[in-house]
Amino acid sequence: MCGIIGIVGQSNVADRLVDGLKRMEYRGYDSAGIATLEDGEISRRRSPGKLNKLGAVLEQKPLHGHTGIGHTRWATHGAPTECNAHPHATARVAIVHNGIIENFRELKSELEAKGHSFESETDSEVAAHLVTDLMGQGLAPDEAAKQAVARLTGAYSIAMIFKDHEGLLVGARKGAPLAVGHADTEAYIGSDAFALAPFTNRVTYLEEGDVVVIRGPQVSIFDAAGRPANREIKITTASAALVDKAGHSHFMAKEIHEQPEVVGHTLAHYLDPAGPVVRRLGVGLRPALAKASRLTISACGTAFYAGMVGKYWFEKLGRIAVEIDVASELRYRDPVYPDHGVALFVSQSGETADTLAALRDAKAKGQTTIAVVNVAESSIAREADIVLPTYAGPEIGVASTKAFTCQLAALASFAIAAGVARGHLSAEDEKKLCASLLETPRHIAEFLKQEPAIKLVAEEIAKARDVLYMGRGPSYPLALEGALKLKEISYIHAEGYAAGEMKHGPIALIDEAVPIIVIAPHDHHFEKTISNMQEVMARGGKVLLISDREGIEKAGKVWASIEVPTTNAFITPLLYAIPVQLLAYYAAIAKGTDVDQPRNLAKSVTVE
Ligand code: G6P
Repeated sequence: MCGIIGIVGQSNVADRLVDGLKRMEYRGYDSAGIATLEDGEISRRRSPGKLNKLGAVLEQKPLHGHTGIGHTRWATHGAPTECNAHPHATARVAIVHNGIIENFRELKSELEAKGHSFESETDSEVAAHLVTDLMGQGLAPDEAAKQAVARLTGAYSIAMIFKDHEGLLVGARKGAPLAVGHADTEAYIGSDAFALAPFTNRVTYLEEGDVVVIRGPQVSIFDAAGRPANREIKITTASAALVDKAGHSHFMAKEIHEQPEVVGHTLAHYLDPAGPVVRRLGVGLRPALAKASRLTISACGTAFYAGMVGKYWFEKLGRIAVEIDVASELRYRDPVYPDHGVALFVSQSGETADTLAALRDAKAKGQTTIAVVNVAESSIAREADIVLPTYAGPEIGVASTKAFTCQLAALASFAIAAGVARGHLSAEDEKKLCASLLETPRHIAEFLKQEPAIKLVAEEIAKARDVLYMGRGPSYPLALEGALKLKEISYIHAEGYAAGEMKHGPIALIDEAVPIIVIAPHDHHFEKTISNMQEVMARGGKVLLISDREGIEKAGKVWASIEVPTTNAFITPLLYAIPVQLLAYYAAIAKGTDVDQPRNLAKSVTVE
């Protein structure tokens, strides 16, 4: 998604603006630009493509000036061209914008009727003209900005600088996050604390409807009603050393390898190894679980598949009725929420627009809302009644890996607690389940040693045009996740199916050219999955079986197999996620795609 940076500095800001943008590259973007005040005049440089292209433009035509804004754009309205890239400017103002201005058509016609002419296809440009129009009516820049922002509908954040107003930077938040960074002689605006980390660790997160006016290092914040607002300054933990691949070729590889450690951190938060028992859950969660009439789970993308695995766990261990839907559907479906319902939202970023909207709707309809989130200061974390944190650390690769397994670790701990709180699990059951969960980091580390063998299979998979994944029970969401991972980064067409559904249609696709990845832990679904695998093989299907030693031996001859350590069936989703990630990673490497920033995708989707 788009990234915003703004600096009111004591020295030239162009390089630092680009640095801030680099730290938001992980969000996904397809063009970039910056603007500064050079002797009071707005100057800008923009380029389609990645930041190195903007860097080349700046090398040819450097930008000076101590006040500036920058932007990475993930195209929504209009193609990723230079003309559509931000900052958008008039003679008086330059703006950068993240999100969607829903009423831009009406505003554009109104402004065109007044003689404004537009150069881009974006919704964002309308904000620049609106501010210009209001300034033309005699308003001071900050006042014009406030009035303009009040007229924009949609979910967005915005930052602007003004001709002849050295040291003035105005920002606003409505639906998309914006943080303000404080320093002694400078001040900053950024879409997240990572962008600001090289400059400061003193950060204020704007609240909905806030407008910030920065003059020199002086920061004034106003609430939605225009009243001066006192917002806390937090010391963030976002590290300035973030953009480091730690010797790996890609962030995705680094993040796959971090899983033993970060899954361990997440489990350490929830489980007391001395019991072992589930020790820590949000305040009020156990009583809410004990009397919960239903659990509604919602999320997007990979986080949704984590939620789907959770459904199997909550039903089995907690004997709780679960309803699950993707957030973009749930929020508009007018779902029937029961009394004493609990609604659970899963999100790495904590900023996904649909997930946040679904959470707000569930909260308004009386549900106790719980969020499994990786970013502690995010909107979803701040708005949920109870937060269950994951400790994956910053995830930079667009394709989610370590955040997924940490979400599973948190959900598994939560499901055990639900089972105990609802009287379906004994103390002995809790101990056994927690003990197996605590073994996962070790098993993941052991499994990662097989990486070279998986690379070889992945190179074969990379030759296919279509790939199918299948699994049963909690391995079904993993089949969906495997297919998502593969298509996201290698651009190979892939689909995941419940193994039992194969013969209701997908089996028609089977021939020698279509590899089928069968995820079949040696659990109580095993025999059934293997029967479905045989049906596929009988039709010429080329099967890659992922199972443990016993499973592989029992299954007989297949095209290829990947052996996963034998564990308690409960934790298999955490473990079987790893081969699925590595297969996608090495297939993408074989295809030569941009693994960390695949085309068209964004890390944090703040538009619906
Ligand atoms: C985007 C990302 C996915 C992610 C999904 C949900 O589509 O590319 O990797 O799973 O958003 O994001 P969240 O931050 O809510 O987990």
